[in-house]
Amino acid sequence: MSTTIGILTVSDRASSGAYEDRGGPAVQAWLTAALASDWSPIAIIVPDEREQIEGALRQMCDLDSCSLVLTTGGTGPAARDVTPEATEHVCDRMLPGFGECMRAASLEIVPTAILSRQVAGTRGEALIINLPGNPSAVADCLNAVFPAVPYCIDLIGGPRLETHASMCDSFRPRHAR
Ligand code: MTE
Repeated sequence: MSTTIGILTVSDRASSGAYEDRGGPAVQAWLTAALASDWSPIAIIVPDEREQIEGALRQMCDLDSCSLVLTTGGTGPAARDVTPEATEHVCDRMLPGFGECMRAASLEIVPTAILSRQVAGTRGEALIINLPGNPSAVADCLNAVFPAVPYCIDLIGGPRLETHASMCDSFRPRHAR
C-alpha cells in the first residue's frame, strides 16, 4: 500500500511568490532519498496564518488520507510564526519527544536551534511533525527523528513505511519487525 505524505510549507514570502520555496523541496528530496517503500507527496504552500495552516493540515489528514505530514517554517519566535499553535490545535495528542529530540540534535549544529518551537502530534491515523524553514535544518531534524517515525505510524494504524538503512536506520521493537 502506498503512503501519502503531506509536505506543508508555511511562509508568507514563499506563498506570495516573493521567493522560491526551498523548504518543501528539501523535505521531498530527503524523503525521496530515505524511503524504500512506495509513497506519494501532496505539497501545499500557505502564508503564516493560523486558519490556513490548520485548514491545510485538516485537508491533508482527513481528505487526502496522509499518514505523515511534515511542515516546514513558522516555528520561530517572530510574531507571525504560528505553525506550532496551529499544529497543536488540530492534533488529538502531542508527542513532545519529537520537538525535544530535534532541538537537541540541532543544538549540536547551531546555537539558534533553541529558537525553534517545533512540535509533533497525531491527528487520527496521521503523524504531524513541524520542521524549521531553513532547508539544512530540514535534513538535520529528519535525520534525528525519522528512525522512530515508521513505528509511530504502525502504532497509529497507518501503512508500513520502510527506509533505506544507509540513509535512515529506522527502528522497530523485535516483535514488530
Ligand atoms: N535548526 C537547524 N538544524 N538548523 C538551523 O539553521 N535555524 C533556527 C531554528 N532551528 C535552524 C534550526 C532558527 S534561526 C530559527 S528562528 C528557528 O529554527 C525557527 O525557524 P522557522 O521560523 O523557519 O521555523
